[in-house]
Parts: sequence; structure tokens; C-alpha cells
Amino acid sequence: MSVDVPFRTVIEPFRIKAVEPIAMTTRAERDALLAESGYNLFRLRAEHVTIDLLTDSGTGAMSDRQWAALLAGDESYAGSRSFERFESAVHRLTGYPHVFPVHQGRAAERILFEAVVRPGDVVPNNTHFDTTRANLEHLGGVACDLPAGADPDFGGNMDLVALERVLAGERRVPLVMMTLTNNAVGGQPVSMANLRAVRALCDRFGVPLFVDAARFAENAWLVKQREPGFASESPESIARAMFELADGCTVSAKKDGIVNIGGILATRRADWAKQFQVLLILTEGFPTYGGLAGRDLEAMAVGLIEALEPEYLRYRQATVQYLARGLVKAGLPIVEPPGGHAVFLDAARALPQVPSAELPAQALALELFREGGVRTVEVGTLMFGPAARHELVRVALPRRVYTASHVDWVIETAERVAARLGEIRGYRIVDEPPLLRHFTARLAPIG
Ligand code: F0G
Repeated sequence: MSVDVPFRTVIEPFRIKAVEPIAMTTRAERDALLAESGYNLFRLRAEHVTIDLLTDSGTGAMSDRQWAALLAGDESYAGSRSFERFESAVHRLTGYPHVFPVHQGRAAERILFEAVVRPGDVVPNNTHFDTTRANLEHLGGVACDLPAGADPDFGGNMDLVALERVLAGERRVPLVMMTLTNNAVGGQPVSMANLRAVRALCDRFGVPLFVDAARFAENAWLVKQREPGFASESPESIARAMFELADGCTVSAKKDGIVNIGGILATRRADWAKQFQVLLILTEGFPTYGGLAGRDLEAMAVGLIEALEPEYLRYRQATVQYLARGLVKAGLPIVEPPGGHAVFLDAARALPQVPSAELPAQALALELFREGGVRTVEVGTLMFGPAARHELVRVALPRRVYTASHVDWVIETAERVAARLGEIRGYRIVDEPPLLRHFTARLAPIG
């Protein structure tokens, strides 16, 4: 009997049918582009970027099946066939009977919180993503981050002791949320055991549980790889089990939905669904399109299924690991272990000569662009101000967009930057807006 010997090489499980040229620039051009942008990578024109690893959100490549589905989009105002296909895909994935399309993740957050949060309420989360926190605080809610840390396999878990303390406290808790994977702590996964324990605590205190499931497929895959008892289960059945533990979800489909725009709000609670529907109609649109075109719903219905294909997830994880190993070999320190969608460079360790006030993570991100046209994002003092706990550079991987040789380019860029780390100087802010300064601030090099 012949036995399949596993291949050492994990290939991109797709071939390329449409191509988009990317910019090749000279070092002198990149120097000029950086100066013109005010040393802010958000201010660059995307067509000047060679490899764009700013985010994995809305930047994925759709499949031929998704592009074909677009043409089948039913653009009827009410009762569109595309909604039925979208609804049944979400229902099959989550088991939730009430499904609402929204234009992206933050719209789902806004509707959920507006329906159930009152000023002064506390919402615990393993860690709120920025938009989740902002939407909650906008309504007078208190965002309570309870990351467990410690566990190297499941760094996204929630601190159960702290959760119990919050649930037993004086303040009203309208719901608990779990972010899968936990983006704000580096895209680290949450274990099924932790999710079950959170559910049990929620049951004990009679509080509903929602998942922020933007990266549900990556979380399911990492559970399959790392958590005892799940190796033989399909990513689909693990994802289904995750959703079953919650009362509903908010989803930015721009990640594991593999679409350029779209989101989902879904629940098993009929009472909350009624409130969601009213708020949806107010700002997003009629419940069968919710701020999207019928064709967008078709693309999401296909993408949600493709994201759970084992060969795709194997390749996705292999790419992140390949990038992480390459960056370390190149001589740049990273946060270990890498997350599901990104590798984080530790700029505090890479540039000990640059104090936080002089934006070391921004300085490192700028050098990656100067050296190889690679765009990443600073997650440090520029983004969070003096409250920043780390000086990191997120190197996020869009889905199905770049090949292994693109990743090699990023690693070679890192090698060249690593060779001159000691010469890199900091930056100061010369102009900044009152809010979310990292998007538009202008900087200048120090010295
Ligand atoms: N929740 C998580 C965990 C996210 O990562 C994001 C977006 C959102 C919610 C909001 O979704 O952008 O569709 O409104 N994260 C992007 C990123 C922006 O770059 O990590 P959205």
C-alpha cells in the first residue's frame, strides 16, 4: 500500500488568474516619499508601496468563485435572493437564527452597544479592539480588558478570576465579549477551554456572551493545531462549536470573510434581534441588505466557507510562521509566538537607543519602507500616546495576496535594516490632530 509522505513545502493552494502590478521604486524615491508624507506611512499613496502589510483588513484576494458570485448579486431592495444565500451561510456557520448584514465590523459593534448598553455599564472583553472600545465609550460604557496573558499557545485567553470579580461587582454588565483571535494582544488565539469557562461564568451570573469573530477561522485552526482533543476535528466544526458557546457575534468580514467590505451581526436572542433590526434600518439599510450591495452578500457567503478550508488555513499559518522565522533570522526581535494574521516586531529591543518619546516603533516601520518599500504599522507611542505599553510594529499578512517570494523580499528588507539598527534615530511630532493622531500626524527626524 502506498502512503502519502507529507511534503516539506507548503504551497499557496491557488494559482493566479488576475494580476495587479506593484510599484518598484528607488531608494532615492522612497526617501523623498517619506519626507513628503511627513514620515507617516498612512499618508503614502498605496501605489508607491511595494509590499503592503499595513493590515489584513479588506485587503484579501477574492477567489474566482467569489468573483463569479458577484454577478449573481440580486440588488432588490427587499427580500433579495442574495440575502437568503448570505443568511443561510451565516446560519450554517454560527447556528444563530437572526442574521443582519452590516457594512463592516464597527457597524455591528455600534448597533449591538446602542441596543443593550446604558451609560456606566461595564463590558468585559479579553481585549477590546480599538473600534469596539471607541463605540462602547461613545455610549458611556466602560471597556474592561481582561487578558490572561501567560499561556504561550493561547495568549488571547481571558483572565477568568478577573472576569468573576467583575461579574460579581456592583456595576451592571449587559454582556461579556470575547475577541477571536485577540487582535489587540497580537492576534493570539483563544482556547475552547477558556471560551467554555467564560460561558459557564456568564451562565452563573445570567449575562449574555458575544464573540467578536473577525478571525474565527484562524482561531479555529489554531485550536485544531494546539488544543488537546481537537486535532481530528474540522475547522468548520470547531468554529461552529465556538459560535454555539455564545449568544451572538459581531464580525468584520473584511478579515476571515475574505471580502473587501462587509460585516455581520447575528444572535440567537429574539428580543435583542428586534432592537438590532430597528437600529439597522435607521442607519445601515433594510434588513435584507444592511448597508451593502446584494453582490457583497454573495461574496461574503462564499468567503466565509473558503476561509475554513484546511489547505487554505495550513498555508496561511505556514506563511505567518515562515515570515516570523525569517524576521528573527534577519536579526529583528519579534513577539513570540506570532499570532494568526501578523508578526509583531519589538522595536524597544531593536532600537534601545531610541526612547519611547522619540517613537522607536515608527522609526523602525519607516526604515522598512525606506529599505524595501514595505509598509507596516506602528503600534506604540505614536498610536497610543504615553499610555502605550509596548513599542511594536505590526507586519500583517493580507489573505491570498502575496506569494512566498514576496515574503522573502520582506525578510531581505529586514536583513538590510537589521544591519544598521545602531544608526537609526527617532522622530518628533510636528503636527497632530486631537484624536487618533497616528492616521494623520506629521513627523520630523531628530538630529
Ligand atoms: N474587531 C477586530 C478584532 C478587528 O480587528 C477589527 C478591525 C474590527 C473589529 C473592526 O472591524 O474594520 O470592519 O470595522 N481591524 C482592522 C485591523 C482595522 O487592521 O486590525 P472593521
